[in-house]
Amino acid sequence: MIKVGVIGSGSMGSGIAQVAAAAGHEVVLFDTNQDALEKAMKKLQKILARLVEKGRIDAATSIEIFDRITPASSLNQMQGSRIVIEAIVENLEIKKSVFSQLEEICGDDCILATNTSSLSVAAIAAACKNPNRVIGLHFFNPAPLMPLVEIIPAIQTSDAITKETRGLVDSWNKITVLAKDTPGFIVNRVARPFYGEALRIYEEGIADFATIDWAMKEIAGFRMGPFTLMDFIGNDINYTVTETVFAAFYYDQRYRPSFTQKRHSEAGWYGRKSGRGYYDYAEGGEMPIANENKDLGDQIVWRVLVMLINEAADALFLNVASKEDIDLAMTKGVNYPKGLLAWADEIGIQECVDGLDDLYNEYLEDRYRCSPMLRRMAKSGNTFY
Ligand code: NAI
Repeated sequence: MIKVGVIGSGSMGSGIAQVAAAAGHEVVLFDTNQDALEKAMKKLQKILARLVEKGRIDAATSIEIFDRITPASSLNQMQGSRIVIEAIVENLEIKKSVFSQLEEICGDDCILATNTSSLSVAAIAAACKNPNRVIGLHFFNPAPLMPLVEIIPAIQTSDAITKETRGLVDSWNKITVLAKDTPGFIVNRVARPFYGEALRIYEEGIADFATIDWAMKEIAGFRMGPFTLMDFIGNDINYTVTETVFAAFYYDQRYRPSFTQKRHSEAGWYGRKSGRGYYDYAEGGEMPIANENKDLGDQIVWRVLVMLINEAADALFLNVASKEDIDLAMTKGVNYPKGLLAWADEIGIQECVDGLDDLYNEYLEDRYRCSPMLRRMAKSGNTFY
């Protein structure tokens, strides 16, 4: 078993440490904030104890996993690692500084991975003299529970490093997908309309939060409606991701953030964690009642779904990932009830094109432009699968 280094002991780093230790590796976990590290170790112990209570693992295994994780007081303890996974604050300059320090500490062949959600892997790799061993490894929160990991080779990353990293993470019982080093990778790009189009429908006054959530959950089969999900993620975090993706795409109107979410974030209405978001989570707070009108529900689902399908098709069009990986990413990373491209086949590609063209013709906004991939497929009568 190899030695795995993890940097940053926040929600992601401690989860990744748990995953690697559960796979049998010796793990060294480092954080500049030693209090945070101590807290993370205590939390890990609690999580493992809970797994024992639930009968998922036995007591001996829980102790073994915990004992495999060594809290480190210095970055130098990363020495001897086969792979180091960085999960520190989302700041390019700080990440670059850590990577250039790591290069001096770790052996020449150590894989240097970043769990960044929104930064360019190429920019982080550029901090290293040997950038071909730097790779993106994007876990989902909570890392021990979410099966998906996006593997993102930078343009500098060697094929051998990509292959070895993917093989390693596959051996940790994770589902890996390969994504191009582009903003949002697969999931955080393709999922944008789930939030954005729902917010737009609300802003136009077509339906309220509860009705949109009801439609997406009960008619379309998503595990949570978009507003419930945004309240769960936190409107501050979700808004920042949207704004980052929007800027990273050179302000492509398709990714334009919404004032509704911005105001919720500015008001401190983050969602569950602050007790108030789109909904009121305070004790005695009343949940609004959805308008369960089937025609309205179908109209909401169709509009959000066709925008999601368009985004997935465009990601394929621009070679962000394979069709299989795009569908797998959305079902395993964010629990979509079906892969979006398989869903498009089921609906009919021509129907999707017509739906998008109807929206475009009504609004004349670039946001609703149909991906050339869908248009070409409809013309030739092809399907994704
Ligand atoms: P967090 O804020 O919970 O934890 C970050 C930890 O890094 C803190 O304990 C902090 O003390 C430590 N840290 C900061 N600078 C450091 C340095 N120079 N050296 C060592 N440790 C340092 O953050 P979180 O949520 O765990 O995110 C970490 C990374 O993972 C970010 O890049 C984020 O974008 C990414 N990510 C976050 C997800 C999420 O849902 N929270 C999902 C997937 C990726």
